[in-house]
Amino acid sequence: MTILQKLIEQAKQPSGLIGSVMLRIMNVAHRGMTNWLMHSGLMKDGDIVLDIGCGGGRTVQALSNINHRGKIHGIDISEQAVNDTIKVNRYAVANGKVIVSQASVATIPYPDAFFDLITACQTHYFWADLASDVQEVYRVLKHGGQFVIMSEIYKINYHRKDYQTNGQLKQLLKNIGFQSITIQEHARKGWISVIATK
Ligand SMILES: C[S@@+](CC[C@H](N)C(=O)[O-])C[C@H]1O[C@@H](n2cnc3c(N)ncnc32)[C@H](O)[C@@H]1O
Repeated sequence: MTILQKLIEQAKQPSGLIGSVMLRIMNVAHRGMTNWLMHSGLMKDGDIVLDIGCGGGRTVQALSNINHRGKIHGIDISEQAVNDTIKVNRYAVANGKVIVSQASVATIPYPDAFFDLITACQTHYFWADLASDVQEVYRVLKHGGQFVIMSEIYKINYHRKDYQTNGQLKQLLKNIGFQSITIQEHARKGWISVIATK
């Protein structure tokens, strides 16, 4: 395996010391997306939120800091990411405000219609079966709730063999049942945000 392949594997499912270092780097590198989310006005105080692919835990932390009455849940397929997210949010975890568990988007361990807002930052291009995974997101979202995807465009083009274009992604979300879908290109930064309302 080349060094590049090893780094890609670590981004897909971080593990061990190298994974932990990468998660810390991602916490900084993806700050622009997290900041956009914080200023988007999508989350209301009291919302029950899920961050899928929570990585190093920085998005969970930022959401938790401005949502005083709600709860922030994080899931990640990687044990290392779960441990690091718990570490970064240790006080909020201790008082029950933040709940983190190891799980895949393919089988989200929550009942139907549980969340007001679901976020997925720099992760959907790794999901094995996007159609069925997004269907699972839809299941746990409340009616009127919002699903937000943020992703660098070149990573979608590199990792995804399907649903590469905004049109294909929009059609997928529509087929699953989302009512309103907005895809915005942040051209200067090279990333997109997708807001889909159930
Ligand atoms: C590039 S990192 C992004 C982490 C974080 N969201 C951020 O913006 O810094 C991708 C994360 O998605 C997680 N991930 C990949 N596939 C997943 C899946 N099927 N279900 C849940 N998490 C997944 C990885 O373990 C990793 O922590």
